[in-house]
Amino acid sequence: MKWITDIIMDKLNRSFKRKPNIVLVGFMGTGKTSVGKRLSTNLRRRYIDTDNVIERDSQRRISDIFEEDGEDVFRQLESEAVNRVSKLYNYVISTGGGVVLKEVNVTKLKENGVVFCLSATPEEIYNRVGHQTHRPLLQTPDALETIRIMLADRAPYYAQADYTVETTGKTFGEVMTHITNIFFKTTVPRKYTK
Ligand code: S3P
Repeated sequence: MKWITDIIMDKLNRSFKRKPNIVLVGFMGTGKTSVGKRLSTNLRRRYIDTDNVIERDSQRRISDIFEEDGEDVFRQLESEAVNRVSKLYNYVISTGGGVVLKEVNVTKLKENGVVFCLSATPEEIYNRVGHQTHRPLLQTPDALETIRIMLADRAPYYAQADYTVETTGKTFGEVMTHITNIFFKTTVPRKYTK
């Protein structure tokens, strides 16, 4: 019977002009926030970031949650934020770099969205964020080596995205053009049309 509800939902979504979200995943420092905000302005879509949702709801900084409650609690809050943003339509959604670690998060994000993974080389990521102090997972004696190890560990998780967009050596404009070209020119997967 699932197909009947799918057809009804599809008709409702079309009549309410609901369009799929553009979802950005990717390692820390790959530009999810910067690209996401620019995309939302250019496409006149609303913007939301799962890390902001967590900080706003808990009234705490991500680094404090990690320090006081540990990563597992943060991941739980992150999944709750994903549940919430996955119910939206017509948004540009940026996510924290580890959102892909739980398969259920990716499944949810794909329900209403096309998932783009932004990528960059370890050196580029280090140049962009190596000096910053608000990312708990990169506060190690050798941040570049940490980035290399984490990128390798996480590669299969990032591969769950619908598309991967390289950002090393690219301008924001080039990255945005790449994403919008794919988003508007390819057949949008799952149950929505453009
Ligand atoms: C994390 C990435 C961070 C933030 C948290 C954990 C990760 O977000 O969610 O520090 O596990 O990669 P950004 O990718 O926006 O820095």
